[in-house]
Amino acid sequence: MSNPTSKPAWLENAVFYEIYPQSFFDSNGDGIGDLPGIIAKLDYVKSLGCNAIWLNPCFVSPFYDAGYDVADYYKIAPRYGTNEDARRLFEEAHKRGMRILLDLVVGHTSIEHPWFKESCKAERNEYTDWYIWNDDPWRWDEPGFHVVHGYADRHGNPLTNFFYSQPALNFGFAHPDPRKPWQQPVTAPGPQRVRQEVKNIMRFWLEMGADGFRVDMAGSLVKNDPGQVETARFWRWIRDWLDEEFPEAAMVSEWSNPEIAIGQAGYHMDFLLHFGMRGYNALLRKQYYANRPGGDPYGFAFFDKSGHGNIMEFLDEYLHHYRKTAGKGHIAIPTGNHDINPRLAINRDWDDLEVIYLFLMTMPGTPYIYYGDEIGMQTLNLPSKEGGYERTGSRTPMQWSNEANAGFSTAPRERLYLPVDERPDRPTVAAQENDPNSLLNRVRRLIALRQSHPALQASGAFEVVYAEAGKLPFVYQRQQGDETVLVALNPAAYPVEVKLDGKRFGKVVKELYGAKNALTREGDGWILRLPPVSGIAYQVA
Ligand code: NOJ
Repeated sequence: MSNPTSKPAWLENAVFYEIYPQSFFDSNGDGIGDLPGIIAKLDYVKSLGCNAIWLNPCFVSPFYDAGYDVADYYKIAPRYGTNEDARRLFEEAHKRGMRILLDLVVGHTSIEHPWFKESCKAERNEYTDWYIWNDDPWRWDEPGFHVVHGYADRHGNPLTNFFYSQPALNFGFAHPDPRKPWQQPVTAPGPQRVRQEVKNIMRFWLEMGADGFRVDMAGSLVKNDPGQVETARFWRWIRDWLDEEFPEAAMVSEWSNPEIAIGQAGYHMDFLLHFGMRGYNALLRKQYYANRPGGDPYGFAFFDKSGHGNIMEFLDEYLHHYRKTAGKGHIAIPTGNHDINPRLAINRDWDDLEVIYLFLMTMPGTPYIYYGDEIGMQTLNLPSKEGGYERTGSRTPMQWSNEANAGFSTAPRERLYLPVDERPDRPTVAAQENDPNSLLNRVRRLIALRQSHPALQASGAFEVVYAEAGKLPFVYQRQQGDETVLVALNPAAYPVEVKLDGKRFGKVVKELYGAKNALTREGDGWILRLPPVSGIAYQVA
């Protein structure tokens, strides 16, 4: 299943790096990261081999949800810089052959957005129908929805999308309840205006030089929309327009349902995440979600030294979505993100992490590295900041060096956006830079492996060679043109071996990565032997 029509073409070898702007690099000593700080560190990101960046929201906001509550879609938040800085960031990235995706948060605005303030007014005005309000301030029980009651003089209560401070923009209802006339159809004038405005916002930043968007809660727009049919139709309309006007722009959704997001809504990429697809947790973090709905208190992630994980919990779900989307778009498996506690490195050493990065860099689709995961940053135990709650500890300042504040900022410590990891043995870029065996340099080598082998990139064909419930190793093959690469992974602390069909390939052309001589010919087959916590990528023919 290869995908020769991958669009835009630059996604084919894209490796993304997610930057949480407040915590990356502070260029002006005010204690908070900023856009000029990101520009100053572009060469670092490039040195990893990453050629694309997803930037969390950097727009004007009261920051009740760290910027996912936008108060002006057309203006960079002063704490991060100016629109001119954004323009320069795009230019500087492009000079280096890199791309920048902004974060598009259009399911809701902030309560401080002027549109919402207008919509709160009792008198009808231009923005009355831009948000969803019920028609009775005494009805705060709208089954299936969250409403805030008593918020404004307007006779009704607004629906929210996430926190109380994030009122839902009105994209309409796929099936409005006829007994509730405030539920407007998607074709009503309010929802139609909101749709156009999404285009305006996108056009504004794309014309300035942005290369696309990560879309927040992409599946949540149209209400009462079983199967997300109308929401998908809206995004398909956006995609058709992009194909016409901005064919190089790329869209990645926070949906965690590739079948719909890519297959129907026309996204170029969709994330596997800790909600939605159970399989993502079964892969990397299962035990931490044990107490959530559907969690298994006795479960282990596949990437666990115990060897007790089950690759099929991931694969069953993954293969379903892969088959539904191959040729249409890319599944994105991230190392983590700003919402995920714990970070990847918690309870793992560099050898464990290397096996995980070997997996991430040899899977189809588009990999995403959350800033700091390339050096093994930890999740700290911190009080909530800007609506982060338990997410806060995974959002701490990037650890550049052993200078004050880990080289993140020259501000006095108490003015930092969040505390830095103060442990004496905290990982830093500087400490790992010159150590060929550091996690940083292993990650670089693995990204380089991907970048130099088309078979390993976004649309090289993917085929499972050996995967059995509760057994090891996990073996798969990637192929593009006349290149085939066999990848085998053993996350467990003990050696494993398996016999492979001798007809699958005739010889090892080159041992590209990992243990040497892991494959030996025996009789009519191959014996694959992997040392504890190891993996290989061999070119075969
Ligand atoms: C998902 C974002 O990643 C998260 O940080 C935010 O709080 C919610 N969407 C609401 O916008």
